[in-house]
This record gives sequence, structure tokens and C-alpha cells, in this order.
Amino acid sequence: MIRSSRKLPSLPYFWSLIDWTLPSLNPYKGKLQRAQNVADLAAIAKKRTPKVVFDYVEGSAVDEVAYDRTRQALARVEINSRVLRDVSDIDTSTKILGKSIDLPICFAPTGYTRLMHHVGEPAVANVAAENNLIYALSTMGTTSPAELAAAVPNARRWFQLYVMKNRSDTLAVIKQAKDAGFEALVLTVDTPVAGLRYRDNRNGLTVPPKIRLSTVLSIARKPIWWLNLFTTGKLEFAAFRGWDKPLSELAALIFDPSTDFDDIKWLRTVWDGPIVIKGIQSVADAKAVAKCGVQGIILSNHGGRQFDRGPVPLEILPEVVDAVGKKVEVYIDGGMMSGLDALSAVALGAKAVFIGRAYLYGAMANGEKGVQQVIDLMRREFINGMSLSGSRTIEEVQKNGAQIRSSFHE
Ligand SMILES: Cc1cc2nc3c(=O)[nH]c(=O)nc-3n(C[C@H](O)[C@H](O)[C@H](O)COP(=O)(O)O)c2cc1C
Repeated sequence: MIRSSRKLPSLPYFWSLIDWTLPSLNPYKGKLQRAQNVADLAAIAKKRTPKVVFDYVEGSAVDEVAYDRTRQALARVEINSRVLRDVSDIDTSTKILGKSIDLPICFAPTGYTRLMHHVGEPAVANVAAENNLIYALSTMGTTSPAELAAAVPNARRWFQLYVMKNRSDTLAVIKQAKDAGFEALVLTVDTPVAGLRYRDNRNGLTVPPKIRLSTVLSIARKPIWWLNLFTTGKLEFAAFRGWDKPLSELAALIFDPSTDFDDIKWLRTVWDGPIVIKGIQSVADAKAVAKCGVQGIILSNHGGRQFDRGPVPLEILPEVVDAVGKKVEVYIDGGMMSGLDALSAVALGAKAVFIGRAYLYGAMANGEKGVQQVIDLMRREFINGMSLSGSRTIEEVQKNGAQIRSSFHE
């Protein structure tokens, strides 16, 4: 048997191993530094924000089945891997609507962003600008199109729209986007009526939050979040400033259940720039929409927050790309929590993916820096995945391709 020879411990060697960094006064600093992935940031976000806010972001509709299926489908993707390629130089850039972005991961529109972090939409759009990515501002944003353009003039800005009950209201909102120099309109079509979000109803979510007895407890638990809320501007739907209507009335005006294909044709006549249709969930609708003269579609089930028994966008992605990919750009969103999720969707044919919850977790965990960290982590995973599967460019990722296994284990 071989034994190691023992000697007296070397004090200088022991000394050299000690990490002399003093613990930070910020209890989250170490955790943020150690975060390996978006899930780690989500865990920090959960600790830093009131339950009502975290649940609003994390939750989905009804039984939350569609979101679970969306996540499971991503875990079933198998990316074809090639070896012995020189992968010392990886290029993650791609072209969206004729212009290059540095990574095929962009920011989906999310309402109420200042609820998640007091800086809100401009913080996210600034990360988009710094990383040469696209930011889509929601109609339900807490920053108006003009304010966003003023705060982050160099970001590629898309504006997400709902066709509202009153077409003149729709036109007024479109005008705000046009005047503020937004590049494209994203029409969300999976929300003819609001989804049923039981978590939010149970938590009594309102915007702005109502001060109740439970609020006082929440303030005691998350004082910094509340301090930020009370010491920064009013929380409101900025595109509807001056409408002065309660949320329930506003929602009834914003979503028009009678919206149909003619509305897309109408939109074409009032907006000269690119139009992207968000919320396509079938091959047939992808084909029908592609005929309306739009430039892109986002396959999306709204992150499982609308219809809780619809198809999983990822599972129809290859067929949709086959059917309309030459006519319109096909993007996808839903459940993208890692660079490998994004790589999977791109390998299955998506031009780019959009993230929602992922960046909101970053914002809740650490504001703009947290959003940047999400992009850094996802980029690291994306590049690592490209290298290990032998693809140097997005074109090669798509040439190598991927398939969705029928079950996780088989
Ligand atoms: C908190 C939150 C608010 C959202 N608000 C909107 C919205 O106002 N308009 C819209 O079209 N989609 C909205 N979405 C859906 C996102 O644009 C996107 O489709 C979805 O988040 C993708 O799934 P993921 O969150 O798993 O990435 C929202 C999503 C979240 C999480």
C-alpha cells in the first residue's frame, strides 16, 4: 500500500490559503456573486420582493399546466452535437429585421415592470442597449413610450400593443410609439380576454398596491422594496396617463374580444414600420398571419399566463418554420431560463427567443445589474453550448439542428 509521507504543517502555505475579504454589509452581495444561473437569481428575487410581486411574475393561469409543459418541452430538446470543429472563435450575432443583434435573446414586453424594481423599464432597456439586443415595451408599461425613448435613446425599441375596444384609443397609443421613434409594433393576439390568474386573485394584486393590514406586515418584511416604491414616482400605466380609470375598467377597454384578422390588415394601414404578431399557437394561424403582410411572429403562450390548455409553442416551432420561415421571421418565447433553452429553440429554427420572467427575476434580485447578470449568465451558457455542440455561428447551430425527444428519459 502506498502511503503519503507526513510533515509539519507549513504556516506560510496555510496563510496563503486564507481569503481575507471582509463580509459585505449587503446580505445579498455574496449570493449575487455566487449565482450560477437564472434560478439562483430567482431565489434571491423571492427573498427581496413581497410575495404578491414575486407570485405575479412567477405565476401562470388557472392550474399552471401550460407553463409546466413549456418548461418540460425545453428539457426534452436534444441538440445535435459535432466534434473536432475548431470552436475557438464563436459568433453569437444574428440579424433581426435586417439589423444585427449580438445574441439571439431579447426582452419580451412585461407590464408593471416598476413593481418588480423601482427603476423599471428603462433599466431593462438600458441593458438591451448595452448588449445590442432588442427591448419590447408593454402597453401596460409603467414607463411611457416617450419616457423610455428619452431615457434610453440608443436602444432598439419595439412597442407591444393590444387592439383596444375603441380604435381611436388604439391609434392614440400607436401615435405615442410612432412619435417616440419605436422601430416595430408587436401586436399581442393571445389575450382577447384576460387570463385567469388565481395566485394574483388570492394575493389581492392591484396596481398600485392597496394598503391593507397585510401590507403593513409586508412592509415589515421587505422594507427596502416598499421604501423604493414610496420614494420614486407614482406607479401607473404610463401610456394611459390621464385616463384616470380603475384597473378593472381599463382592462375591459384594453382587451377587445372581437379582434380578428381584419384588425391586422387595419394595423398595416396605420403603421408603416415592421409589425410582429405575438401569441401565435398554431401552424394554421402562422400561415394566415404571414399572408397579412407582417414581418415577424412570436410563437408564444404568453408564458402560460393566458390559455392553460393550449399547445406548447416549442413543439410546433419546426413545423411553423417550415411553413412560413421564408416569408416572416419566426421568434419564440416561454420558459426560457437558460442559454441552453435559448440555444435549443434556435437550433429548432427560431430566429431569436424572447425572455420575460428571466429578466424580471434579475431585476427583482438586483435591479439593472441583475438584468445584466441574467444576460451574462445566459450568454455564457449559450456560448458554452455552441462550443460543445460544435457550432461557431447561428447558421451552423441551425444547420446542426435539434429534435424534441418524446419523453425526458427515452
Ligand atoms: C410579469 C409579466 C407581465 C407580462 N406582461 C405582458 C404584457 O403586458 N404584454 C404581453 O404581450 N405579454 C406580457 N407578458 C408575457 C411576456 O411577453 C412573454 O410572452 C412571457 O413572459 C414569456 O414567458 P417567460 O416569462 O417564461 O419567459 C408578461 C409576462 C410576465 C411574466
